[in-house]
Amino acid sequence: MLLILLTGCTATDKDAKMERYIDNLISRMTLREKIGQMTLPTGGDLVSGSVKNSELSESIRKGEVGGILNVKGVEKISELQRIAVEESRLGIPLIVGADVVHGYETIFPIPLAMSCSWDTTLIERAARISAIEASADGVSWTYSPMVDICRDARWGRTAEGAGEDPYLGSLIASAYVRGYQGDNMKGDDEIMSCVKHFALYGASESGRDYNVVDMSRNRMYNGYFAPYKAAVDAGAGSVMSSFNTVDGIPATANKWLLTDVLRNEWGFDGFVVTDYNSIDEMRMHGYAGLKEASARALIAGTDMDMVSYGYMKTLEESVKDGRISESLIDKACRRILEAKYRLGLFDNPYKYCDVLRAKTELFTPEHRQVAREIAAKTFVLMKNKDNILPLKGNERIALVGPLADARNNMCGTWSMGCETDEHISVYDGLKRAVGADVSIRYAKGSNIYYDADTEKGAVGIRPLERGDDAKMLKEALDAASSSDIIIAAVGECSEMSGESASRSDIRIPDAQRSLLKALFGTGKPVIILLFTGRPLDLSLESEHAAAILNVWFGGSEAGDAIANVLYGKVNPSGRLTTSFPRSIGQVPIYYNHMNTGRPDSDDTKFNRYGSNYIDESNTPLYPFGYGLSYTEFKYGDVCMSRDTISFNEKLEVTVPVTNNGNYDGIETVQLYIRDLYADVCRPVKELRSFKQVFIPRGKTENVSFILSVEDLKYYDSTGNFTVESGDFDLMVGPNSSNVQCKHFYLSK
Ligand code: BGC
Repeated sequence: MLLILLTGCTATDKDAKMERYIDNLISRMTLREKIGQMTLPTGGDLVSGSVKNSELSESIRKGEVGGILNVKGVEKISELQRIAVEESRLGIPLIVGADVVHGYETIFPIPLAMSCSWDTTLIERAARISAIEASADGVSWTYSPMVDICRDARWGRTAEGAGEDPYLGSLIASAYVRGYQGDNMKGDDEIMSCVKHFALYGASESGRDYNVVDMSRNRMYNGYFAPYKAAVDAGAGSVMSSFNTVDGIPATANKWLLTDVLRNEWGFDGFVVTDYNSIDEMRMHGYAGLKEASARALIAGTDMDMVSYGYMKTLEESVKDGRISESLIDKACRRILEAKYRLGLFDNPYKYCDVLRAKTELFTPEHRQVAREIAAKTFVLMKNKDNILPLKGNERIALVGPLADARNNMCGTWSMGCETDEHISVYDGLKRAVGADVSIRYAKGSNIYYDADTEKGAVGIRPLERGDDAKMLKEALDAASSSDIIIAAVGECSEMSGESASRSDIRIPDAQRSLLKALFGTGKPVIILLFTGRPLDLSLESEHAAAILNVWFGGSEAGDAIANVLYGKVNPSGRLTTSFPRSIGQVPIYYNHMNTGRPDSDDTKFNRYGSNYIDESNTPLYPFGYGLSYTEFKYGDVCMSRDTISFNEKLEVTVPVTNNGNYDGIETVQLYIRDLYADVCRPVKELRSFKQVFIPRGKTENVSFILSVEDLKYYDSTGNFTVESGDFDLMVGPNSSNVQCKHFYLSK
């Protein structure tokens, strides 16, 4: 067993010490053992089966495994770690990975929802809690954050990212990394982050998962790369390559991406792991069979092979053939050993195997309280006619919809590890909030889809009981007839977004739309509680509903959080980080688009030879940055400290914002810029700053921003991060479509 104690040394001492330690270790490793470190199998059979007798345990004993993923439970993990440390020849500890994407047992809202809080402190706190829980249960490495920019609502994995904006996405990416890794992974509750999926996965063609990505370098650098780089700059210890091809080459074997950009340009010094089985999938891509794909992945800069066994099965032979040199293997193996060293696993391989912690630190009341607060801050109030919300508390409610009493549907994608029995539904939450005096009549109202097979595919691992369409509709209308207000909990069920959940129709599914139409027909006010993991086409609903509260998938505490918002204990403050289209034909739609030479001059009608549609407007139904509050914020005039700045000067921008309504509230004041003429065309708007301010009712807050030349930079046609002197628009407002525009000049 190898143990070195690291006490009282500086970073450089430590690096030198680490290097010596790893040099020594590598010098004693066989080629097969080195490749073993680069091999990451899934726990698979161990999830329910026996650790001792498994094939995986035997491979660990032989030194043929560097880490594992998908094993839940500290006892099982400790046993595997014991085998690695005590029964393998060199005793190298395992790194233990899991998709702790929005919580471990305490589940936070899905990442897309989290981004709508625009609150990086809260996001960091959620990541911290996720790390505390995961580490208490044996996990040392999380496959998060997912930072893929997405502009295409059809892609189900939109749910896992932070929306369409690279600036906000970057701030959020670094918040996650800080939260997971804490004080540089020194603590027992700090784990390694793995930023994914590098790169550009969110731009899968036609929104179909795993599909090809083909994109200009200009767009990569200016529109998509920033959040990955931000995570790297924040110190993310590892990066996961993506499934898609980039420039015709699978990302996992793309040397330009993994070495030229990631390591040489950005200075990444952690390790790169593939996505699930990516090396083997290169066959299907039509790129290379397992042996050649493994060699190319290694040459490109991929250090660890998740699940495909390509490295284990072929690299020894490729060394013998001379296709690759052993020094490349040493390099990759070293990076993985360094990660283990940085995690402190050589110091204490059982750092994350404290059974007592697992008993006391999971799903705690404190963690759940934070999750409840965060959930409420991610909800986006999209419509609120005549201030029907918040509810007064004495209304008779008809609560209808297939998602109204579906406990196992509150968490959304990547929440397999949690116990949904311990969560509450919307129905439970409302009853708890109002007590026995208020009438709440519940009726399911409809299935998710009319077609049972389509529904089966949609619900995946979280089945919902199906009922008879006509009977359920009748029950819903009965409930509505004896109520003052209808709350319809509808939308996507939890597995309709996330991996492998692309949709070609982004409306609320058919059976629920019919239910809504019938409810609108009653003439009673309908409040839609919208569950979704992606932007939806809500054109029908936005016209007829009295209110729409988008609750996404709010996590394990969503039931209470929803009740708190509906009954006004919390004033909603979420703002969209992804545009909601008017129809599928507008997709991809995003606020930070380029102009054309023939921009649309009048959005109310079709203009022949303008860049617009015959049958649809260019604008989204709900724009990026949009969200209502129970109170009303009024913006005064935007003031700039000057209208010309030189490269070393700063521009101060202020705007008074008054809370004119009846509730205290949080406003997110957004600042956008536009570079009017540049070396490459720039978007019509780019978020460059924002401030979140709490403004008590009746009060005014002067919100100010300082802009410097750094905020104006972009990647030019030669790849330089730069800015030229010239004209800029500066826009400030409550969302990307509603801004006051000023103008300034950047002079030499
Ligand atoms: C997903 C990754 C995930 C990995 C491990 C893949 O299918 O694309 O996001 O981290 O599985 O579970």
